[in-house]
Amino acid sequence: MKHIGTKTIETARLTLRRLKLTDSEMMFQNWTSDEKVTQFLRWDAHKTIDDTRRMIRQWLDHYQDDSTYYWGIYLKDGEMIGSIGVTITSDHDLKGALGYKIGSRFWNRGYSSEAAKAVVDYMFRNTDIERIDSFSSVKNPASGKVMEKIGMRYEGRLQHYYKTRDGFHDCTLYAIIRKEWEQRNSDQSIGEI
Ligand SMILES: CC(C)(COP(=O)(O)OP(=O)(O)OC[C@H]1O[C@@H](n2cnc3c(N)ncnc32)[C@H](O)[C@@H]1OP(=O)(O)O)[C@@H](O)C(=O)NCCC(=O)NCCS
Repeated sequence: MKHIGTKTIETARLTLRRLKLTDSEMMFQNWTSDEKVTQFLRWDAHKTIDDTRRMIRQWLDHYQDDSTYYWGIYLKDGEMIGSIGVTITSDHDLKGALGYKIGSRFWNRGYSSEAAKAVVDYMFRNTDIERIDSFSSVKNPASGKVMEKIGMRYEGRLQHYYKTRDGFHDCTLYAIIRKEWEQRNSDQSIGEI
């Protein structure tokens, strides 16, 4: 698969860029220590800023590999509000999985959808990825809504697909393939004329 790694993306309201160690304080304050954010994730909310520093260091190591796609999400004034990434699940099959998190103070303002659309566009434009999918707990409808809003198609329900501190979750699976993304872009350009 052709890779270009994590490069900065600008959207109307957001900057998506690589994490830096100097982000640790606002990252901890704004989302990694937020129990509402980790409710549907497989890791617990961070108790200390050192937990967040450790997470950043791991990503700094991963950035050396061009197949890593993981961005911090920042408002234009530099405030960090969350993160978003695509995990390459198969280099052979040219596919990846999208995931995102936003601090609960910043929910329902369209930030995840804006970031997710930009990341999907980045992946299809700059790599030869064929399919991007994403799953979320049926108990987390806001996440499924983001997938719908960025043009992913519902593919089905996955029973007991992953486990959190609350037990197993059934999940909804959404995906978009290159042909659909191209179609969506050509429809948009017709609309813009
Ligand atoms: C899921 C999450 C990323 C959404 O972020 P966000 O920035 O609030 O998302 P957006 O504002 O772009 O869109 C959310 C949509 O869900 C809708 N929504 C919110 N709560 C909802 C609910 N309980 N039921 C149905 N829809 C809901 C919002 O109205 C909005 O849709 P709209 O724009 O059509 O009104 C955020 O809630 C989060 O970080 N949750 C914790 C981490 C997580 O679960 N990540 C996903 C797993 S990969």
